[in-house]
Amino acid sequence: MNLKEELESLRLKVIEEIDQINTLGGLSQIRVEIFGKKGSITQALHGMKDLTPEERPVIGAFANEMRDALSEQLEAKKQELEEKVMNEKLSQETIDVTLPGRKIKRGVLHILNQAREEIENIFLSLGYQIVEGFEVEIDHYNFERMNMPKDHPARDMQDTFYISEDIVLRTHTSPVQARIMEAHDFSKGGLRMISPGKVFRRDTDDATHSHQFHQIEGLVVDQGITMGDLKGTLEFLIKKIFGESRDIRLRPSFFPFTEPSVEVDVSCFKCSGKGCNVCKHTGWIEILGAGMVHPEVLRMSEVDTDYSGFAFGLGIERITMLRYGINDIRDFYNNDLRFSVQFT
Ligand code: PHE
Repeated sequence: MNLKEELESLRLKVIEEIDQINTLGGLSQIRVEIFGKKGSITQALHGMKDLTPEERPVIGAFANEMRDALSEQLEAKKQELEEKVMNEKLSQETIDVTLPGRKIKRGVLHILNQAREEIENIFLSLGYQIVEGFEVEIDHYNFERMNMPKDHPARDMQDTFYISEDIVLRTHTSPVQARIMEAHDFSKGGLRMISPGKVFRRDTDDATHSHQFHQIEGLVVDQGITMGDLKGTLEFLIKKIFGESRDIRLRPSFFPFTEPSVEVDVSCFKCSGKGCNVCKHTGWIEILGAGMVHPEVLRMSEVDTDYSGFAFGLGIERITMLRYGINDIRDFYNNDLRFSVQFT
């Protein structure tokens, strides 16, 4: 058998083989068996060297054509098999589009954060800025600048966590008053700010006390600010939070950093003043402390004497407890989802 006949019979055999293959693995094996280094065609072509110079180009051309044709056949078979594999896969993986989807559980903002945001928005609508203070504060701002010198008895009420002799976990948000007043450029106008945040006191934890809780400080300093401005602002706030039909009442009180100082009560939203267990049969519920900024506090912050101001401090937990009838402050901090998800 001469080389041409050999190639021709090889061709017919290979065509047959390719035709019968039905896996991709088998196909690549055949490719190696034909075209590989030791493949049948490669082997057969070694016989080229024994040909006469006249025969060589003729057989060479025949061999090239044959190789191209077989490659094409291989490629076509490969596509056919790939398509088959894909179709099998698709028929096995049918999905039932009518099945109901899996619900993604939505989280809720913690109720204390919701309350903070709500109050922030009320004051933003009044043109206040929101200021962040420091949870770790120096004695100077927490006490001295709030008109509570060392050994002042008012310090006892808030006696707190000392980090060093003059660094404390702040006992209230009031030190932000001093910090913002000294930073504010009064030549550009008055100051209106609130400052929400954590405060710390060496309290014994019980149903209404926690060693750590949240306050919102408010401060307005401008020319001609009066007690009327304070009352109007608080009335606006309280009606927004507890409803338009609520009234407020100011009672004389004492804070070292305000003069005069007041406790602010809201008319009871449960009994509307008739007297019940929520208001301890007084018709009124104590809600926050406030007052006119003490002249000494203004002086220490180097605010000009023709300015006056008011300040208030409210407890976010207290307001939220009253509003939703929550009896135990510890419910806020236990991270029990059964509690948290009620406030959607
Ligand atoms: N800082 C006071 C407290 O924590 C509250 C307060 C703030 C009172 C501002 C008057 C004015 O009890």
